[in-house]
Amino acid sequence: MLNEKNVGLGKVRSSIRELFEYGKKRKAEIGEDKVFDFSIGNPSVPAPSRVADAIREIVDTTDPVLLHGYTSAQGDYSVRKTLADYINNRFATTLTADCLYLTCGAAASLTITLNALLNEGDEVITFAPYFPEYKVFTEHARGKLIALDCEDGTFQIDFKKLESALSPKTKAVLINSPNNPSGVVYGKRTIEKLADMLSAYSEKTGTPIYLISDEPYRELVYDDALEVPYIMNYYKRSLVCYSYSKSLSLPGERIGYIAVNNNMEEFADVYAGVCGAGRALGFVCAPNLFQQLIKKLYNVTSDISVYKRNRDRFYSALTEYGYKVVKPDGAFYMFVKSPEEDARAFAERAKKYELLIVAGDDFGCNGYVRISYCVAPEMLERALPAFKALAESYKI
Ligand SMILES: Cc1ncc(COP(=O)(O)O)c(C=O)c1O
Repeated sequence: MLNEKNVGLGKVRSSIRELFEYGKKRKAEIGEDKVFDFSIGNPSVPAPSRVADAIREIVDTTDPVLLHGYTSAQGDYSVRKTLADYINNRFATTLTADCLYLTCGAAASLTITLNALLNEGDEVITFAPYFPEYKVFTEHARGKLIALDCEDGTFQIDFKKLESALSPKTKAVLINSPNNPSGVVYGKRTIEKLADMLSAYSEKTGTPIYLISDEPYRELVYDDALEVPYIMNYYKRSLVCYSYSKSLSLPGERIGYIAVNNNMEEFADVYAGVCGAGRALGFVCAPNLFQQLIKKLYNVTSDISVYKRNRDRFYSALTEYGYKVVKPDGAFYMFVKSPEEDARAFAERAKKYELLIVAGDDFGCNGYVRISYCVAPEMLERALPAFKALAESYKI
């Protein structure tokens, strides 16, 4: 007999993918410019030209046997050292190369981390709305995902709910800021409060709790004054899952890393667990051309000003039409309140206006839809009358 769970996962496409595929079919039927696809988080801004320049330079100047050969399982030492130095300079940490494990993006970083930490039945707390794959990754690591609703209307952490959810079964808390799908950023006071609550609970009960920060959107923040706190500065038992998919517009190349905080007493075991989980899952030796690329472009991003302009234009238009939206501070999503209780029905009705948006149910949060605004500004502009007509159809 096959593994039923995995067969099931393979057969059911995520509804985001489903909608994306529907969009492709619809575009073929009625024309590319008539369908407004806001379904997927694929960066619309190209990778900066420095990416192509660096790839050419690396290919032209590196011995091909080395360039296309295996690196050490956790990634090339010099790449890990460069990244550790960069993180230390930026966030005043004291990481070494041996705190980092290079991966094929945040998805791999998360599965490796969860497999490193969890034993059968351990619980991972996260905050809804959340990236749907968290449940898949946690369950694959034999754990249970506990999704807590956020504070109504702000999508910030509800600390009362967190306090009552902590239990001896809690192994980790998983946060994502800037958030997919709400665009919300957790500020310094929130992270301090979270760290204090976890530390106090661990101390009182002797339960070690790890804080995992999923950070593919760290660089996508639209207010210069807004700081995205680095969790290692607040909490010892912490791991950062980073990716270049969004910041450098390289989602198809699969490159990212896990950084393990070396301030926790059991650091050596946790890092060994990460290496072991990477090995057991077959996630060893991330693509070397892209390891070498991030060694050169560790502090470069694509032109995210386009996303900021999209956010501003979209937010003001949607609120003018009567939609209720929490203004996102980062990432490239808006989480909009559905004008009817059933957000799936709302997303279905939007299709009649050729608008492809995703029901919030998929993110563990009913009554909302996610709209990805990582789209060409011209498409966004063309779609606005459809959003207006959709709002009018509800008389909001
Ligand atoms: C919150 C979140 N975490 C992780 C991922 C996976 O990113 P990657 O492409 O780096 O695997 C995504 C992708 O959209 C995401 O939105």
